[in-house]
Amino acid sequence: MIIAANLKTNLTRSATHKYIEELNSFAEESSQEVLVFPAMTSLDSFETKSITIGTQNAYPTQNGAFTGETGLEQLEEFGIKTILIGHSERRHILGESQEFLVEKFNYFKEKGFKIVFCVGEPQEIREAGKEAMLTYISKQYEGIDTEYANLIIAYEPVWAIGTGLTPTLEDIADIHAELKKKSSAPLLYGGSVKVNNAKDVLSVNNVDGVLVGSAALYVEHFSQMIQYADELSQIK
Ligand code: 13P
Repeated sequence: MIIAANLKTNLTRSATHKYIEELNSFAEESSQEVLVFPAMTSLDSFETKSITIGTQNAYPTQNGAFTGETGLEQLEEFGIKTILIGHSERRHILGESQEFLVEKFNYFKEKGFKIVFCVGEPQEIREAGKEAMLTYISKQYEGIDTEYANLIIAYEPVWAIGTGLTPTLEDIADIHAELKKKSSAPLLYGGSVKVNNAKDVLSVNNVDGVLVGSAALYVEHFSQMIQYADELSQIK
């Protein structure tokens, strides 16, 4: 399974080093794929073979005049080959359009990056029913190469992110079954995954892992999720 931590705009560079060092001792005992996405200024060369470090964002360029952005050149300095694209905070807070996400996707695909591509519906679409949800989410797949070998999809309902709310396990199973018809890429669930629900979520059919925000800031919580995945992998 894939157990991923999106640290968002949290932890300084030195705190991230400490975090990776502590997490590494758990990750090296595990057979799961562990991904960590630190804040941009905390990207660095970390001493770990068991954790893949990814970037939460980047601009589709080698380098150039893109004030405030990070290009391929800056990622290559740290050997980073994994990127998160389409996170709801970038779609909704930073206003990234589907067209721009497709441009980013194609650029980093061409560079051979592992891409964690996020999809998910806001509250009002969920309330409008399943058909509205599927129509909305289908648009987020438009222009994306769903057959890309290095693709991971993360289903993150916008209303579940950082709210403590989650869909029921039946709802997760239902939507994941639908999304698996669109792409056979590993499919993660994200949105208020905590230590107390992670094992249940990981047990759901077609859930190939989790993308964790706030709970991942605690190494012991995130490590516990990795351990749950190890336990489940033996029976799944
Ligand atoms: P929370 O786990 O804090 O809800 O965040 C989820 C998320 O956005 C991961 O990318």
